[in-house]
Amino acid sequence: MATVRLDQKKRALVRSIPSSYTKALARYFGTGPTNVDLARAQQQAYVDALEANGVAVHRLDADENHPDCMFVEDQAVVVDGHMLLPTPGHPSRVAEQPPIAEFLMEALEGVQTCTMGGEARMDGGDIIRLGDLFFVGRSSRTNDLGIVSLASLLEFFGHELRVIDIPEGALHLTSISSTPTDNIILAPEGFLKPEDFGALPEGCEIIWIPDEEVYGCNTIGLPNGKVLMAEGYPTVKAALNERGLETVEIDMSEIRAADGSLTCCSIFY
Ligand code: GLY
Repeated sequence: MATVRLDQKKRALVRSIPSSYTKALARYFGTGPTNVDLARAQQQAYVDALEANGVAVHRLDADENHPDCMFVEDQAVVVDGHMLLPTPGHPSRVAEQPPIAEFLMEALEGVQTCTMGGEARMDGGDIIRLGDLFFVGRSSRTNDLGIVSLASLLEFFGHELRVIDIPEGALHLTSISSTPTDNIILAPEGFLKPEDFGALPEGCEIIWIPDEEVYGCNTIGLPNGKVLMAEGYPTVKAALNERGLETVEIDMSEIRAADGSLTCCSIFY
């Protein structure tokens, strides 16, 4: 989940991969997953990496009726102890939400929760956070009414929200960018431009990555200074290492095959 600051990444929720995963939506990076056992092994390596770096992970059971259910990031937006339950942008994914919402409401005892109504749509995967500055993608999954709901939540905290139009060749904002620390954005040169992000707070920077490594732009930074990244993206790795960040690489091939990136597979809460 890309909506918590680095220091807030202590607990993460994941969801097991159903046998129906081969039917997961795949239109962008992915050609469709074929090997459920390999996907499960890769998810386990991801969980192991989070746990080895100080994150307590809770796992929900898979839902066979929902091939995409492992991509929990889209289903709940947790910001500073509050929660927005978006109406997911793809109809096949709407009913994945109740067990996730139920778990988070119990885990975040007394959490203030808001939902979306009418035609508002949003996937949590369209949000990234740079310190207290938020960016949301206007995408095939997230519409203007969804963005208004998010803006209301962030206004409550006094956090700024900027809207970025997601190019047609990408699913979510997190498919093409991430904030491995509270002052670095990773972004691919041909998908996004500096103007999309606007002027950044002092001390923040965008690291521009060649398009062939767009998938590598999705990372998870952790409070101990380590950054989880997908295996096989040398420019991303070198850029992070040059800035003193230790990288932990995970084979994401069967997760990528369903258009999933690292952040898609968890919610920090
Ligand atoms: N396969 C993930 C998604 O399309 O939402």
